[in-house]
Formats: sequence, C-alpha cells, structure tokens
Amino acid sequence: MSGKVFFSVSMSLDGFIAPESLSELMGQQWMELQAWVFPLRFFRENLKLGEGGEEGRDNDIARVTFERTGASIMGKRMFEAGEQAWPEDPPFHTPVFVVTHEQREPWTRLGGTTFYFINDGIHTALELARQAAGDRDIRIAGGGETILEYLNAGLIDEFSIALSPVLFGSGIQLFDGVDSARVALEQIRSESSSRATHLTYAVHER
Ligand SMILES: NC(=O)c1ccc[n+]([C@@H]2O[C@H](COP(=O)([O-])OP(=O)(O)OC[C@H]3O[C@@H](n4cnc5c(N)ncnc54)[C@H](OP(=O)(O)O)[C@@H]3O)[C@@H](O)[C@H]2O)c1
Repeated sequence: MSGKVFFSVSMSLDGFIAPESLSELMGQQWMELQAWVFPLRFFRENLKLGEGGEEGRDNDIARVTFERTGASIMGKRMFEAGEQAWPEDPPFHTPVFVVTHEQREPWTRLGGTTFYFINDGIHTALELARQAAGDRDIRIAGGGETILEYLNAGLIDEFSIALSPVLFGSGIQLFDGVDSARVALEQIRSESSSRATHLTYAVHER
C-alpha cells in the first residue's frame, strides 16, 4: 500500500520559508522561524545533541512527522544548504531523493540516510520514493521551488505549516507561483503552542 505525499515546513507570518540567499540561512530571522524546533527533546535526540529537551505538543508533532516518513524528496538548494550543515548522521534515517540537474553518485551517510540524485524530474523521484517508503509516507522536504512543483502537479495529498511569529519581508515565498486555479484546500487541523501555530490541510483538485 502506498503512503501519502505531504510537506511540513515552518513559515513566517508573511509567508516565507527561507531567506533568499543561503548565506543568510543561519541569520536571526531563520533562528526565529525555527525557534519552536530547537528546544524539542525529539530534535535533540534525532541529531544526537544529548539528553533533555522539551516535551509537549510541539515535540509530538515533530516526532510524528519524522516517524510517518519513509522517504524524503528535496531540491538541490535545500540539499546544498544541508550538505554543509547536517552532521555525519543526518536527521533523515531513510533514503532521500534530491531532484537536480547535477549528476552525482549516491551519497551514503551514517544512520540509514542515503542521498540519491535524480536527474529526470519530480515524477521519477516520487516513484523511487514510493518504492523506498513502503507503506510509510513520502515527505517533500523542501525547499519552496520543489514543494511548488509537486503542489502544482497535483501530487501533494496533505501539508502542514508551522506558522512562526516572525516577519521576513523578503525571501523564498512558499506559495509564490501556485496554480490557484487547480489547488483547493480543506482545513484538517489547527492547534497552537506558545511558539507556533500548526495548520494542516488536505489538498484537492478544483
Ligand atoms: N522553512 C522550512 O521549513 C524549510 C524547509 C525546507 C527547506 N527550506 C529552505 O528552502 C531553501 C531552498 O529552497 P529553494 O526553493 O530555493 O530551492 P529547492 O526547491 O531546494 O531547490 C531548487 C533546485 O532544485 C533543482 N530542481 C528542482 N526541481 C527540479 C527538477 N524538476 N529537475 C531537476 N532539478 C530540479 C534545481 O537545481 P539544479 O538545477 O542546480 O540541480 C533547482 O534550482 C533553503 O534555504 C532551505 O533551507 C526551508
């Protein structure tokens, strides 16, 4: 049985998921965007940062998002940012399919994460991810361009947004270029913690 295709991102209140340039990625606004994640017990466990960390609803959401994911797909720009930032044992622990024009051999890391570089488009990446994920779900990990390709192609079943209390003003806008004539949303869930508002939608065709 095939799982769902979903994405789950942190978004600023004005709709951005990252600064425009990778060099600004670890700046103050990014820290505020991800501030709900860093204190979590699950985040610390997954990156082997040591004991402790906060439990509660944010932690449960982060853990469930990880556990449901049998394979991830990401764009080359997200991979490039992560290639520098992720530790030897990256936080995926599953196959990851990178859509890119660059030809490159698979890159196997510790902890069950192998990055496969896919040169023939989003459908091929999804097919490979489905095979790898078994009955678990497929996460379109990011970034904005890749998520939008899948959304506009009608390939996303569901998505979650952690809306963070930060304004970017500019950057990579999640829904810039969305095919609004095609994509219709149904709100499934909304809940908030002191750090973020978690919104979940099912995606339907108009
Ligand atoms: N806020 C969050 O929760 C969150 C989550 C994930 C990522 N992010 C951020 O998002 C940013 C990256 O997003 P982005 O929109 O700039 O880029 P992206 O979606 O990560 O990558 C886009 C690149 O992927 C390759 N690509 C995409 N579709 C392709 C296709 N169909 N065929 C071949 N190659 C394809 C192309 O690179 P090439 O032509 O060079 O191969 C393209 O320039 C990063 O800063 C990351 O940190 C934020």
